[in-house]
Amino acid sequence: MTHVLVTGAGGYIGQALSARLKAALQTGQIASVTLVDLHFAADVVDSAGLRHVKGDIGDPSVLDKATWPAPTKVFHLAGITSRAAQDDFALGLRVNVGNAMALFERLRLQGRAPVVVCASSIAVYGVPLPGAVDDHTPLKPTLSYGAQKQMLEILLADYSQRGWLDGRAVRLAGIVARPRAPTAALSAFASDLIREPAEGRHYICPVAPNATVWLLSLPACIECLLQAANTAQQQLPANRAWNLPALRASVHELAQAVGRHLGRDISDLIDYQPQPGLGAQFATWPPLSTDIANQLGMRHDGNLHTLVARALASTTDVAA
Ligand SMILES: NC(=O)c1ccc[n+]([C@@H]2O[C@H](COP(=O)([O-])OP(=O)(O)OC[C@H]3O[C@@H](n4cnc5c(N)ncnc54)[C@H](O)[C@@H]3O)[C@@H](O)[C@H]2O)c1
Repeated sequence: MTHVLVTGAGGYIGQALSARLKAALQTGQIASVTLVDLHFAADVVDSAGLRHVKGDIGDPSVLDKATWPAPTKVFHLAGITSRAAQDDFALGLRVNVGNAMALFERLRLQGRAPVVVCASSIAVYGVPLPGAVDDHTPLKPTLSYGAQKQMLEILLADYSQRGWLDGRAVRLAGIVARPRAPTAALSAFASDLIREPAEGRHYICPVAPNATVWLLSLPACIECLLQAANTAQQQLPANRAWNLPALRASVHELAQAVGRHLGRDISDLIDYQPQPGLGAQFATWPPLSTDIANQLGMRHDGNLHTLVARALASTTDVAA
């Protein structure tokens, strides 16, 4: 019997993952799904096998509800974005690290050693970046968010080597195209660059056209998360952490792909006003190798055309 727990289920990635899990619940592939978040859309309802737990996963009473029945698979997505973690150190540490520790401890004490997929981030690498990045590139985070994701990875690996959890930390690149949000991650400009012109709005891009980004569409990300949960333990790297696949593109190439998708020149809709520091931290991504993910059968979107089409379709889905 598979009991799935998703933390951060009301968020951008969490909503899309939850939709997939609800479908699996209906076809009997899984027995129950528990979704936890501080906030959910007003229209969510519980049904057979499906529960919503609203509250702070760091609150023991919320954790009690979230972890009963004891989950056999966990997707730990609850987190504070790079922007919020940089603005409020204590909040970032409490949510991105403290809550993970509380969750892992609860799972350890339950004694079921569930599969735990955690959303780490390419922010663990920090800047300046080397000429290329692969799964073995040393982690040298230069933002609190990246440091907190590295702590998450270390905790997950340690609980896994003790046999208390079966952890899998996947480092996500920019997942596109998220809906507009004031608290969006500092790297959210890639989503804005796709979404705003597509919705006919003018966009001032805060990084230069030759800036480079790593991108994965939301649907491709969900596939990778599900694959991470379903991969046999023997196939995993010892440190239980690896990069998800991503397409590397310049911002100019991405804008061109958006224009091709829309069937018109959108250069009149985009201005470039690079903000000091933003490009250096978030838009100088070198070539990326994702050998572990590739061996596990995970795939990025293949080309920018598909990425943009999927990104825009998923924006509509999530917003709806
Ligand atoms: N979207 C990306 O491009 C990206 C890239 C790298 C890593 N990630 C990571 O993936 C995960 C999901 O990202 P997202 O884009 O969906 O973010 P999001 O902000 O849309 O969703 C995170 C969710 O976590 C919830 N949350 C925060 N604190 C909580 C708490 N104490 N208890 C319960 N819920 C809480 C929030 O309410 C929110 O709904 C995060 O951990 C994020 O760091 C995302």
